[in-house]
Amino acid sequence: MSADMTAAYAPLLRRIHWATAVLFIAAVLIGFYCGLQPAGTSPRRELLEVHKSLGMTLLFLSVLRLMVRAATRVPPEPSSFGALVRLAARLNHVTLYLILFAMPLTGYAFSSAGGYSLKYFWTFSWPRLVSGNPEIAHAGEVAHDTLAYVVYVAVALHIAATIWHAWVVRDGTLARMWPRSGDSER
Ligand code: HEM
Ligand code: HEM
Repeated sequence: MSADMTAAYAPLLRRIHWATAVLFIAAVLIGFYCGLQPAGTSPRRELLEVHKSLGMTLLFLSVLRLMVRAATRVPPEPSSFGALVRLAARLNHVTLYLILFAMPLTGYAFSSAGGYSLKYFWTFSWPRLVSGNPEIAHAGEVAHDTLAYVVYVAVALHIAATIWHAWVVRDGTLARMWPRSGDSER
């Protein structure tokens, strides 16, 4: 095993990454489906509550993630990465981190301002930060729906790059994020 293959992100960061991956992809699929349905219909109403709740969960998970990232050692990029691949990977990761905050915040803003439901999984409601402000509601919705295209492209490139590294280059990039035995010791 090369030195690159033993370098890995902190165990907690890897766990949060995969929890994020599952919740994020579910939120995107539900959001996409809801975007195609007419407002006020069922199951759009119920699914949107799940979508918003997943989105708010992702917001908190991302705050925790950045704290864990700042407090732990981030492995240097594999030496197989040339300057261009390194730049592409960094750009992709920064975009994904920005999205992890921009999507929940624009969603929260437009649901707050538009007077839409802000219930968390049929329990409590998040505080309405701004209310009854059609300009903010409109701007937030346009931003959320426009950024959705950035999401589709960035996540597709991210998954394609992982497949390329795992099956074509075989440089152990996936192993840096993969859960492994002995995680609890470190
Ligand atoms: C990581 C978090 C989130 C992601 C990735 C995400 C992604 C998406 C996507 C891809 C769509 C479909 C857009 C379209 O087809 O036009 C959508 C729609 C929507 N999202 Fe989110 N979203 C997130 C968080 C939130 C949050 C926190 C809220 C509200 C509190 C929210 C409220 C909505 C609403 C109401 C729609 C339907 C919009 C429409 O029909 O125009 N989203 N979201
Ligand atoms: C099936 C889905 C996914 C796979 C196979 C995957 C795979 C990976 C791998 C292998 C890495 C390590 C890259 C490296 O060491 O340079 C990574 C990093 C990362 N992934 Fe994913 N990922 C997936 C989904 C997602 C999703 C949905 C997001 C966020 C929206 C995401 C955000 C990130 C970020 C921000 C990093 C950089 C980590 C850091 O430096 O802190 N991933 N991913």
